[in-house]
Amino acid sequence: MGTKAVRLSGAKLKILLLGKNGQVGWELQRSLAPLGEVIALDRHSTEHCGDLSNLIGLAQTVRDVRPDVIVNAAAHTAVDKAESETELARTLNALAPEVLATEAAKLGAWLVHYSTDYVFDGSGDEPWVETDATGPLSVYGATKLEGEALIAQHCPRHLVFRTSWVYAARGGNFAKTMLRLGQERDKLTVINDQFGAPTGADLIADITAHAIRQVIRGDAAALAGIYHLVASGETTWFDYAKHVLAQAERAQPAIKIKATQIDPVPTSAFPTPTKRPHNSRLATDKLQRTFGLTLPPWQNGVNRMLAEIL
Ligand SMILES: NC(=O)c1ccc[n+]([C@@H]2O[C@H](COP(=O)([O-])OP(=O)(O)OC[C@H]3O[C@@H](n4cnc5c(N)ncnc54)[C@H](OP(=O)(O)O)[C@@H]3O)[C@@H](O)[C@H]2O)c1
Repeated sequence: MGTKAVRLSGAKLKILLLGKNGQVGWELQRSLAPLGEVIALDRHSTEHCGDLSNLIGLAQTVRDVRPDVIVNAAAHTAVDKAESETELARTLNALAPEVLATEAAKLGAWLVHYSTDYVFDGSGDEPWVETDATGPLSVYGATKLEGEALIAQHCPRHLVFRTSWVYAARGGNFAKTMLRLGQERDKLTVINDQFGAPTGADLIADITAHAIRQVIRGDAAALAGIYHLVASGETTWFDYAKHVLAQAERAQPAIKIKATQIDPVPTSAFPTPTKRPHNSRLATDKLQRTFGLTLPPWQNGVNRMLAEIL
């Protein structure tokens, strides 16, 4: 049954969620629950195959579950490792989304997927809009970009949310690393020439649920497409770290390194296998206008996460 039939009959929506235990996937388990029946899988699931490296198994899962909506939160996200795992990165980030798109199209289902600021070359200092020319600097970025294109080619009913600098309260994240290093070290240096907006997995998941509600009721052709989804405002890793340590100092005055004791350094001070974009700013006007949303300042979500972990 396709989404149109569901909308007409008022029947419960069936949602297939892949990558249920990732940062975004975990939050999606919460945010999608009120929409209908959620079949949530990870790569170890046994009832249905949720392993994106098993393309045949993945197609079979869609045929067996017959979802109205597929939400794919799984990906090869180890950016540096992807440089030496090109084939695996391409399978997870491009070929698996292609399979999902092909199978979703056969069912008339929606496919919701996530992409990244790494599809851009990071030049300039203006926020990227969805129609800007892409130019990935890395295997991760190139494979994510190929995934976007294959989805658009195979499945008209798709939503692709490009996001950046994702964090979650669960698991490790940049803020937790800064808090730990702030206690362990005498000196902290943080990159100050990359610009973006830290974006909470909870925000991404909430907006995904909101958008799904609208596309199920709305005009598929008008709503399908790529959207930039990040918290509002911008910062650098250096200012982000200062913000985290300033908040921590309020909660735990004994913290060893104060926000004023962090030193800014250029990206070249931390060589990595992957070239990272300097300009990761994403313009979100299209998302806000289309779905009637207001994206909160990045500090709101970060402060909330810090309140939970401090
Ligand atoms: N994190 C960021 O800063 C960021 C920025 C921009 C865009 N994005 C995009 O946002 C989406 C969600 O990212 P996230 O931050 O939630 O990433 P994440 O926490 O790394 O989650 C990715 C999930 O994919 C799973 N996965 C890896 N290989 C798999 C396989 N073969 N089969 C099934 N699942 C597999 C991982 O499972 P295991 O834990 O078992 O490995 C993990 O649960 C991704 O599309 C990512 O590209 C992320």
